[in-house]
Amino acid sequence: MIISFKNDKPFVEGVCLDELTTAIETPFYLYSQKSITDAFKKLKDSLNAKIFFSVKANSNQAIISLMRSLGAGADVVSAGELERALRAGISPDKIIFEGVGKSLNDIEYAVHNNIRQINIESMEELNMINAIGQTLNKKIIIGIRLNPDIDSQTHCKISTGRRTDKFGIAFDLLPDLCSEIKKLEQIKLNGISCHIGSQIHNIKVFERVFDKMKKATEIIKENDLSINHLDLGGGFGVVYDDEKELNLKELSFLISSIFKNTAYDISFEPGRYLVANAGVVITKILTTKRNESVNYLITDAGMQTLLRPAIYNAFHNIIALTNIGSDKIEYTVAGPICESSDILAKKILLSQQQAGNYLAICDTGAYGAVMSSNYNTKGLPAEILVSNDSFSIIRNHEKVSNIIARDIIPVWLKD
Ligand code: LLP
Repeated sequence: MIISFKNDKPFVEGVCLDELTTAIETPFYLYSQKSITDAFKKLKDSLNAKIFFSVKANSNQAIISLMRSLGAGADVVSAGELERALRAGISPDKIIFEGVGKSLNDIEYAVHNNIRQINIESMEELNMINAIGQTLNKKIIIGIRLNPDIDSQTHCKISTGRRTDKFGIAFDLLPDLCSEIKKLEQIKLNGISCHIGSQIHNIKVFERVFDKMKKATEIIKENDLSINHLDLGGGFGVVYDDEKELNLKELSFLISSIFKNTAYDISFEPGRYLVANAGVVITKILTTKRNESVNYLITDAGMQTLLRPAIYNAFHNIIALTNIGSDKIEYTVAGPICESSDILAKKILLSQQQAGNYLAICDTGAYGAVMSSNYNTKGLPAEILVSNDSFSIIRNHEKVSNIIARDIIPVWLKD
């Protein structure tokens, strides 16, 4: 939890939140640089492997720049994310481009920027990349994203490594793929990768993945190809509620015992683990109301700000920034959007609240701001980064006039 209270005043690092709520329109995202840095160092030291930050988790330029300063590369899944990583100064040779549906333009953009590798997810994509290489008379460096057919035992909407999921190339096709790669003149195989899902807590699942990917490296060798790089994906689970903290010692032991004296580098592409617990959403209570037995706090943040509770039923703890009295009331916190699914948390215990008070929605640094939307014509929220006693607005709140200005009325509808 990045918020601490000193004399009943809420702080993130050395910055008092009262200073922020008076200066910045809510809702806004707030991140602690120290918390991100600590998470990065903890994971890096345990895994002892290269880290490619999964930009999709939080793609603000400031956050990617922080990752760069910590030594991370980037894992991107669109030309837009690739551009973000390049603009934040990540060296092209530290960028991996993957994604289940890349357009010709996306691939050409990646090739043009000489990035580390493009991970293919189908035979068709392999042939498309080879054709681009022929046109440009250039060898293109690729990786293979495999589908290892392992259930990540996480929420079904964030599980990606089962045989029937749309991601990766079926494991059984690996020998055929090797023969195809050997025939293609413009292709250079650099690595293999996998990613079976997100918010994984069961170490046994990681063990299964590592064993299967080790087997994949052996198949590659048997087929007279070699790799420089084995990417074992992201997925490291964090604590949102009552989950047990991921045992990094066990993970570290697994990696060192399964991958002894390998001729290739090992890397991971975490997103959530590095940023989730380092962020909060600060929101204002617009009104309080009681419908039947439910005590509602209606806030200016809603599913347009943080989509996770609405689409995954995800739990994010909510705390009050103003606490008066010790009695607790059971509240349901709901956003302003005209949808019944716009509920941020049900039945949470807070001291008595009133309109104008501020709440913090915890652990929202990953898949928070990146999934926010303009639904109900709401501007995207601001983002703030705190470091020690300083804070910086790293994205301004979006003005409604900018949203509307994007629309175009065709001539035949103009008077
Ligand atoms: N690599 C690939 C290929 C991925 O697809 C993902 C996440 C990652 C790495 C990073 O996974 P992480 O370390 O963050 O678990 N919106 C969902 C999460 C979707 C994850 C998509 N892929 C949520 O809010 O829970």
